[in-house]
Amino acid sequence: MLYIGLMSGTSLDGVDAVLADVDSARSLKVLAHCCLDLPAELRAELLALNTPGDNELHRAALAANALSRLYAEAVARLLAQSGIAASEVRALGAHGQTVRHRPGEFDTCGYTLQLLNPALLAELCGIDVVADFRSRDVAAGGQGAPLVPAFHRAMFARSGKTVAVLNLGGIANLTVLTGDDTTLGFDCGPANVLLDHWCQQHTGRPYDDAGSWAAAGRVLPALLASMLNEPYFALPPPKSTGRDRFNPTWLTTHVGDQAGAQPQDVQATLAELTARTCADAVRRHAGAGRELLVCGGGARNDHLMRRIASLLPGCDVRPTDACALPASQVEAAAFAWLASAHCERRSGNLPSVTGAAGYRVLGALFPAG
Ligand SMILES: Nc1ncnc2c1ncn2[C@@H]1O[C@H](COP(=O)(O)OP(=O)(O)OP(=O)(O)O)[C@@H](O)[C@H]1O
Ligand SMILES: [Mg+2]
Repeated sequence: MLYIGLMSGTSLDGVDAVLADVDSARSLKVLAHCCLDLPAELRAELLALNTPGDNELHRAALAANALSRLYAEAVARLLAQSGIAASEVRALGAHGQTVRHRPGEFDTCGYTLQLLNPALLAELCGIDVVADFRSRDVAAGGQGAPLVPAFHRAMFARSGKTVAVLNLGGIANLTVLTGDDTTLGFDCGPANVLLDHWCQQHTGRPYDDAGSWAAAGRVLPALLASMLNEPYFALPPPKSTGRDRFNPTWLTTHVGDQAGAQPQDVQATLAELTARTCADAVRRHAGAGRELLVCGGGARNDHLMRRIASLLPGCDVRPTDACALPASQVEAAAFAWLASAHCERRSGNLPSVTGAAGYRVLGALFPAG
């Protein structure tokens, strides 16, 4: 069965899309991949919608329409690249853009909000759309995130061996696949979200290519200690986070104490924060594991990869590319896989990861015709 996964993550860098073949054994093979940048205006609006603002219901609805049109463009590209007809694709798994993530708060249920207009996407593509993957898990008392661990298990688990999978997107999330079939997973903290913000603000570039700017800076021990004091890092799983917590205000609160800090040194310290919190999470939760597979755009940050490897002596740290799924395709592939789970009425969440009361079929269906 062919499925398409569409993902636009916390980094707000663009839309990742894969066309994948999911077989009856639930393993997945990517047939085509494309990545579309978010137009600057849409990116700015989605970023602005992460915080309360004027007339935001109207603006959110229009941003959702614009993002749906971009998703449809990505679908058209995949179909053209592969020579596959829309009618051959069973469903699209469309994540949407998270603008708020507050599970378990306020009225105890809380909510998680991904902007998208799945009805428009179904209309534009003529393919069934599965969307809003996180809300059902939140309704069942879970974090609604991370949702990728079940897919990581299907793709990367090896019997009798502990394998850890680390996704370095805007936020870092870790999955631990133990050889005895248990799966752990949670968000570690910021991966690229603060690195990108600081780099953009001080160099004008959207991200620190290969981490070379950070690599030439000096880690500021007092700043690192101050950031590591963030209570989120010490919380036990289940836990998840996003821009609601790790945002420019959070960064300013910490950097504000560091009179005369050089921008490049702050970048080095932010990279160290990501490396330290991820390595600590691996050490604490995958103790015996000797293998760490890394995916997400952060796998291309050579400095970050070197720092994580050096904090985990004896652990084989490498991108998922070595396991037949390129680092840049894993998240989008997960949503193709979750769409297949929905269509077969299989659960997609893991209560051991999200803390939900039980297994649930994730997502809502918007039929093509
Ligand atoms: N060559 C590179 N060097 C350093 N960092 C890179 C490079 N290429 C990509 N990145 C980083 O990866 C980020 C994008 O990664 P990705 O798309 O996996 O994150 P995301 O959109 O937040 O996804 P998700 O929320 O699903 O994890 C960029 O914003 C940038 O920080
Ligand atoms: Mg992305």
